[in-house]
Amino acid sequence: MSFSAAQIRKDFPIFERTVREGKRLVYLDSGATSQKPLAVIKAESDFYRLHNAAAHRGAHQLAEEATDAYEAAREIVATFLGAPGGADEIIFTKSATESLNLLAYAIGNAPAGNRFALDAGDRIVVTEMEHHANLIPWQQLGARTGAELAWFSLTPDSRLDLSSINDVITSNTKIVSVTHQSNVLGTINPLTGIVARAHEVGAVVILDACQSVPHMAIDVKELGVDFLAFSGHKALGPTGIGVLWGHMDLLNELPPFLFGGSMIDNVTMTTATWAPVPAKFEAGVPNMAQAVGLGAALNYLTDLGMDNVHAHESALTGYLLTKLNEIADLRIVGPTTNVARGAALSFTVADFHPHDLGQFLDSQGVAVRTGHHCAWPLAKSMGVPASTRASLYLYNDENDCDALVEGILGAQKYFGRF
Ligand code: ALA
Repeated sequence: MSFSAAQIRKDFPIFERTVREGKRLVYLDSGATSQKPLAVIKAESDFYRLHNAAAHRGAHQLAEEATDAYEAAREIVATFLGAPGGADEIIFTKSATESLNLLAYAIGNAPAGNRFALDAGDRIVVTEMEHHANLIPWQQLGARTGAELAWFSLTPDSRLDLSSINDVITSNTKIVSVTHQSNVLGTINPLTGIVARAHEVGAVVILDACQSVPHMAIDVKELGVDFLAFSGHKALGPTGIGVLWGHMDLLNELPPFLFGGSMIDNVTMTTATWAPVPAKFEAGVPNMAQAVGLGAALNYLTDLGMDNVHAHESALTGYLLTKLNEIADLRIVGPTTNVARGAALSFTVADFHPHDLGQFLDSQGVAVRTGHHCAWPLAKSMGVPASTRASLYLYNDENDCDALVEGILGAQKYFGRF
């Protein structure tokens, strides 16, 4: 199948509008949030227009339809991720951030004797390239339990330094939580050795897949991880919906995090027991319309083929890297070659403040993100307090990359430096 970003853009109503006095929208901020195809907008609005009711509650037709639609979305996610235990291994949350906090708080709730119980002397391992959602929950869990936080630092070429993996993932390590792809550097991390070492010492591996699930084919069985989190809105889906996948035996043993309606088996005034997974982790009326929208998003991606999406983005990343590498005084913050890297390209230009550069690009219709990208320790370790990030997706093409490059060259002239 030939992959045409121009054709794909026609499915996304937002590309019909212009920005900044009639300029074409060059959207290069999909790492922050993706745009939505009409199929997703329609699925979400159809849920409200035709089927709205509280799933898993109510004895009427609408409640039945809402439940069916919500559970169908769970099936779609399970298939998309290759969940070995099927749809029951999929937990809907409101965001990837909530998925990771769910894990951290649930682990923190584990009583002595539970396989997840943490003590002083245990270790939690992350990496220096985590965004805050996969750093702070673990840092704070460590502070609550006395467990020590350790991390993989980076090599000069923006890869994980795995040279002393056995000294980082020690025999007392219980949790290893790593990003699949850095939201700043674009680095795609090699998981095989990390998973093998973590499992050797009995630790669970949690994968923050926010920046990978939308962009490449994922099969949790092949990755070998124990838990995986991603957000709907970065994968063409609505905001307000996130996913946590975990192996059923682990989810069974993990205590709940949020307490309330529908996550119970039996309740008295002083005690409660828990419903089976996934209900155990889904207290309260869920974000049904958003789950349905996510199902439509993943169907849209599946129809295109995730290998096609990835191949398109990879070719585009190579194209943009070559162009950026040619710009005087531009420093790429991340791998400078198109090897094991995704389509998030961060950079600095001379000593321009990224906010000034971002504002100039915006004036040209080019939308990028600027700042520390919610990965402050990474920014500090790279010696780059802030950068400008272009993040590409399936609806971008070489014209978008050219517009960015022209914008950067224009900024250099505008700021009077070149
Ligand atoms: N959502 C954040 C980003 O833009 C972390 O990368």
